[in-house]
Amino acid sequence: MRVLTIIPTYNELESLPITLGRLRAAVPASDVLVVDDNSPDGTGQLADSIAAEDSQVHVLHRKGKEGLGAAYIAGFKWGLDAGYDVLVEMDADGSHQPEQLPQLLDAVEQGADLAMGSRWVRGGKVVNWPLYRQAISRIGSTYSRIMLGVKIKDVTGGYRAFRRTTLEKLNLDQVESVGYGFQVDLAWRVAKMGLTIVERPITFVERELGASKMSGIIVVEAMINVTKWGLMARWNKLTGKDRADNRS
Ligand code: GDD
Ligand code: MN
Repeated sequence: MRVLTIIPTYNELESLPITLGRLRAAVPASDVLVVDDNSPDGTGQLADSIAAEDSQVHVLHRKGKEGLGAAYIAGFKWGLDAGYDVLVEMDADGSHQPEQLPQLLDAVEQGADLAMGSRWVRGGKVVNWPLYRQAISRIGSTYSRIMLGVKIKDVTGGYRAFRRTTLEKLNLDQVESVGYGFQVDLAWRVAKMGLTIVERPITFVERELGASKMSGIIVVEAMINVTKWGLMARWNKLTGKDRADNRS
């Protein structure tokens, strides 16, 4: 399996080299694509200089900050074009420990169409995450689970390994939301297609360097979207439109 780990960055100058070093040591077979949104702190140039020394590291430069979702979509397209078999989502700030990536890759090798790192299954943990963030994550996950009828425990989580065919079946251009909403949207689309989703416990470690880019607005956007999607799915079921959708 040819694996590409995609790392989106916005102002991760201090964290990125540490995470890249850990990833290259933990899973040397994985190529890496840094997707930088023209970070004002120079993360993009730093990534270029690392890529110049390491042929397995690539950098995709984008014009400006367009959100986590847009960065990942661009990264997925790049990776699919380049022929990778597995595409991984990983944060730059060390919250997703590269040493735990083999567990996600194993799950894909054993047949999962999407393997998700999960804080909220048995064995999953969070370290140094403030209580309010834990609350948002747990409440957001539970709300999404009820509203959308997905069984995934950590549906906003962003440590994931996609089998190439899973992404090929999705219409990536339809995935629009940023932040948490993007992660929920993507997982829900995979679940609706009836593909196999496996959650594996991870230890999510809050960043020590730099600042989070998630904002209250992103959380609110996600909640509104989940509500909208859930209501639309119920409406379609009532009117029989979901069967028409499944047929097409
Ligand atoms: N290119 C790009 N553009 N990268 C971005 C942008 C953007 O607009 N916004 C955020 N990122 C990058 C960050 O640089 C980091 O590598 C990663 O996306 C995650 O951003 P954080 O700001 O560290 O997110 P978090 O720690 O608050 O949220 C984490 O938990 C959420 C809830 O589970 C992430 O894992 C999210 O993916 C997850 O939804
Ligand atoms: Mn983070």
